Amino acid sequence: MVTIPQAVLDKLKAAIAERFGIYIRPQDDAPFCKKIHSRVQELKLSTYESYCDLLTSASDLSQSEWRELIRQITISETYFMRDKGHIHLLQNSILPELIKAQQSTKTLRIWSAGCSTGGEAYSIAILLQELIPDIQNWRLRIIGSDLNPEVVQKARQAVYSEWSLRSLTSKQKSLYFTPQGSLWRLNESLCKMVTFYSNNLVDDDFSQNSSDFINFDLILCRNVFIYFEPQAIKKVLHRFHIALKTNCYLMTGHMELHGQKLDGFKVNVFPDAVVYQKSTTSHTSNNPDFRNYPSTTNSLISNSTYLINFPAVTPTHPSHPSTSPSLAEFTSSTWESYRHASHNLADSVNSGSSSHDITEIKTDWDRLAAAESAISRAAYRPALNYLDQIQEKRLHTIKIHQLSSIIYANLGELKFAYHHCQEVIKLEPNSPKTYYLMAHIADEMGKYDEVKQLLKKAIYLDLYFVAAYLALGDMYGRESDRDRALKMYRSTLDILKALPSSAIVEETDLTAAELILQVEERMRWIGVGFSL
Ligand SMILES: C[S@@+](CC[C@H](N)C(=O)[O-])C[C@H]1O[C@@H](n2cnc3c(N)ncnc32)[C@H](O)[C@@H]1O
Repeated sequence: MVTIPQAVLDKLKAAIAERFGIYIRPQDDAPFCKKIHSRVQELKLSTYESYCDLLTSASDLSQSEWRELIRQITISETYFMRDKGHIHLLQNSILPELIKAQQSTKTLRIWSAGCSTGGEAYSIAILLQELIPDIQNWRLRIIGSDLNPEVVQKARQAVYSEWSLRSLTSKQKSLYFTPQGSLWRLNESLCKMVTFYSNNLVDDDFSQNSSDFINFDLILCRNVFIYFEPQAIKKVLHRFHIALKTNCYLMTGHMELHGQKLDGFKVNVFPDAVVYQKSTTSHTSNNPDFRNYPSTTNSLISNSTYLINFPAVTPTHPSHPSTSPSLAEFTSSTWESYRHASHNLADSVNSGSSSHDITEIKTDWDRLAAAESAISRAAYRPALNYLDQIQEKRLHTIKIHQLSSIIYANLGELKFAYHHCQEVIKLEPNSPKTYYLMAHIADEMGKYDEVKQLLKKAIYLDLYFVAAYLALGDMYGRESDRDRALKMYRSTLDILKALPSSAIVEETDLTAAELILQVEERMRWIGVGFSL
């Protein structure tokens, strides 16, 4: 493992953050150090300090080294029609609205900021092609910009691998691309719709072509801020605000602006995305407008019918034992386990007292602890407020998503809850508990096939996940699939019998002994219900 003296590492990271806005997270230190090490070797420098000095000098070599570093530290993952939710919203709502509004002038200006190899900008070109019947009469200007000149060059070439086109329909592929060996070349007419620039969004001298970066109807800046430090996001947001026409839109990736001050933007929450609209007033908002969001009004806690409602077949049996965890139980125990997993943060800020008693909220740890405490008291909106106030979102991303999923699940805002679970999974793909929570949410949403898949994933990741076996057994039971239900219950019993009888089983709040009785009762009930 490469070790760079902490002071030099801090200096390098600070220089990168200042210059490009890019924040290297502590968990990314190891790969970052490796990259720096290879640059030091390549340049035949004797120390890391001299590399740092080279970067911060005003020489030509410094400029070319920065260019090399950009190549190394930026993440250029992109593809056509990325993020189905966003594309759906653009196709069905945002773009049709803009097209309608611009009918008289027939002009539209759209900016894909942080465009990488161009998939996003060209996807917009394709959507416009499909949405505007008299496109030849329109003056459309789509601009793509990126810090990394190498990806901009590729964007201009417009030749893509099959993989980059994976989200296009076969019709779109054959209509808009020409095969070129194993690759696909975008047709000339679409290429002509987009102009690419290489520039740095956080640079004060942003662009030599700055007159082209004004009067936008729509700015897309997705999966860029996720790598930025908060001050840089603030700066770029201000830039976008100036560049947008009033009432026009900014779209970022999910959660990328969560907790940012959004001066001058109105926040619209749609089921598939959050969209920021430049407002006429100097309206400030940190709080989303949920008007477009089809939330259920019932709290999951007060209205639970989850996996425990297994016996869809209840003709003769009076009442089925309901002991596998309801979401309410699940939520509180999950909250507990998250709490312990997260550096015992409540303890660190509040040793000895109940987390309810937090009086001084100064740090992000305090805010997290306060949010957790609020969740435990079912004070979900205040919990969200605490999460909103967290300054260093990037340091706490997983935790924020975990807590948000629990909060939204309990508020009945299932799509949001589900979305936050998905974000956790992106960052922690091997998290059985998150799949388990998703299964509960999917169940509440009526996505029963998905429930089974999610529970299976949870079991795959944790072969001793009793609550997941039990829930899956209940699912099969609901579907009158007696054999599979019994199989799951038997697996549950096998695991439970290997545990000390007084052990509390995760996600259930029951002891192994209590749960064994409950599972056995279920198995007997299956015998009655299915006329064994
Ligand atoms: C993950 S890609 C996102 C591409 C595309 N927006 C998408 O969502 O598919 C992030 C891009 O942001 C660019 N980027 C990072 N920092 C930047 C900066 N300061 N100015 C402009 N672009 C930047 C990177 O070079 C990279 O190509």
